[in-house]
Amino acid sequence: MTGRSVLQSLRFKVAATVVLILAVAMGLVFAVQYRSYRHQMLQRLDLASTPLSDVIKGSLRHAMQTRHLEQVAAIVDNVSRQSGVIKVLILDKKGQIRFSPDRAEIGTRLPLDDPTCQICHRITPENRSKTVMFAAADGGQVFRNVNPIANEPACFGCHGSRDALLGVLISDFSVAGVERRLAVESRQMLLALLLAAGVTAVAMTLMMNRLVVARVERVVDATRLLGRGRLDLAVTVGSRDEIGELATSFNEMVEALRRAKALRERKELLESVLDNIHDAVVVFDAGGTVLALNHGAEVAFGLDADETVGLAPALLGPGQEGLFGRARRAGPVTAELPLARADGGTFPAQVRVALVDLPRSDSAAGHEVAAAGHEVAAASSLAYVAVVRDLTEEKLKERLDEQLAQTEKLAAVGRLAAGLAHELNNPLGNVLMYAKLFEERLDHDDPGAANARRIVDNILRCRTIVRSLLDYARQSEVRIAPTDLNEVVERSMELVAGQVAQRRIACDVALARDLPRVECDARQMQQVLVNLLQNGIEAIEDGHGRLALLTRPSADGAGVVVAVHDSGRGISPENRPHVFEPFYTTKAEGTGLGLAISHGIVERHGGRMWLESVVDGPEHGTTVYVELPVAT
Ligand SMILES: Nc1ncnc2c1ncn2[C@@H]1O[C@H](COP(=O)(O)OP(=O)(O)O)[C@@H](O)[C@H]1O
Ligand SMILES: [Mg+2]
Repeated sequence: MTGRSVLQSLRFKVAATVVLILAVAMGLVFAVQYRSYRHQMLQRLDLASTPLSDVIKGSLRHAMQTRHLEQVAAIVDNVSRQSGVIKVLILDKKGQIRFSPDRAEIGTRLPLDDPTCQICHRITPENRSKTVMFAAADGGQVFRNVNPIANEPACFGCHGSRDALLGVLISDFSVAGVERRLAVESRQMLLALLLAAGVTAVAMTLMMNRLVVARVERVVDATRLLGRGRLDLAVTVGSRDEIGELATSFNEMVEALRRAKALRERKELLESVLDNIHDAVVVFDAGGTVLALNHGAEVAFGLDADETVGLAPALLGPGQEGLFGRARRAGPVTAELPLARADGGTFPAQVRVALVDLPRSDSAAGHEVAAAGHEVAAASSLAYVAVVRDLTEEKLKERLDEQLAQTEKLAAVGRLAAGLAHELNNPLGNVLMYAKLFEERLDHDDPGAANARRIVDNILRCRTIVRSLLDYARQSEVRIAPTDLNEVVERSMELVAGQVAQRRIACDVALARDLPRVECDARQMQQVLVNLLQNGIEAIEDGHGRLALLTRPSADGAGVVVAVHDSGRGISPENRPHVFEPFYTTKAEGTGLGLAISHGIVERHGGRMWLESVVDGPEHGTTVYVELPVAT
């Protein structure tokens, strides 16, 4: 019993209360018993006193009637000496003492207010008793019997016949004997009562201890252990009384606490798992209100969980309701779509939405659930769980992989082409020389002259191809210098201006001001841009198109981007992967080297090149982007 003194213990209180109650009860019993016993004894004395007095009166009568007054005095003295008798007095009717063992008293009168006189003189006849009790001068109790002496014919001789009463015989008995017996009796009674009280107190205390205190203590001990975090206990207290009910309630409470703890642990585990997965997880209720979101979601959407939970933002885009609907009807759905971030940016994402049954927050341990994290009470038990994967990096990697594969392919083809071109260069030179000689030997009007001209033209074309091939393969001759790309763009435009005007193509040029210089070989970059413009012009139907050129800093500021756009027929998705390959062409007169060479040049500048193309609809056209690093 820690921290509690014996006086405060239930055991002591119970024992003290039992003893106190018994003491009061027994005291009352004793008092009542004592009084009734004393009353009985006095009554017995009372009953016995009158016959005794009559006997004395009888023995006096003879001495009176024979006028032996000295005999009367002797009887009075004699009787007064008997044990239990204090004294006997005879009073005449005037109240004067005529006989008494105490000779000095003889001749005196009892005053009328003496208790003895009150027997006859104050009380109505019907209430008169023959006895009275009073305290003697020495303190002892005196029981006095007052017996009237009637006037009989035998008395007339001396006393005359006028009076009915001649006087009274007073007999005083000692109450000491009665008191002594009473004391002995009451001592025994008290002893018996004390014994009974003791036995009862011990028995009741033991019983209370067994039935109440010990069992309550078991509950108290268990409560104390519970307070220290022990949740694996149950109390058994036997019978099914109030304490049994208390124990049952206690056990139920422990069980509820255990369940709540388990639930909380499971929830914490879940939260930590959720927060440790990279993907974003958002839980919506049936109405689209956000119930919870993990750390991944905070990062992906750029949100603060505390400010988002309880609101209903369309995190999954305008099609959120549709996704929920599909998940509800047909089970989990997966979709790839661009999602918006809080800062206004977007990111490509893969979203998987599933409908789940949530345990309701207002269950038995509801307050526990609501205590931690970013939850609000769920009105409904149905919820949508969205797992969102940010595909930005994946897409980037995909593109890099594609570029890498492309680069490797181009390098291999380049080596092959370079070898081939080198081998072809000399024989081509010879063929050209002989073709020219042959042509010169023919007259102008010779019908073969035109054919010879065609041979020379085609050989020249072959030589251009071979030179291009060699250009493409040549890795070395790059003369890199900080260059203003806007200038390169303008010069390239000038080179194609004639064709643009002739084909009546509209042309927009939007050059960014204060563009940082880039590290590049201006001549080679011009070649790239001319190639791109050439392709654009060739893609546009006569008189129905638009070219657009644009320069701008790259998103991260580390580079400059040039975009060449045309509203031409576009590149079909199946052709798109091949356009950077050497010799890939869809044109009758094409070499298929323009994009391959341009790509090689950009790569060697440490830049990158990509394109977007739309084939169908009014927005058809192609945009080719070139990004070069800013000069440091
Ligand atoms: N702006 C464009 N619009 C439509 N198709 C294009 C465009 N640029 C390139 N292409 C396609 O890519 C192919 C390869 O282009 P390129 O390497 O320049 O070779 P070429 O122009 O000699 O065909 C072209 O034949 C064409 O099919
Ligand atoms: Mg081309």
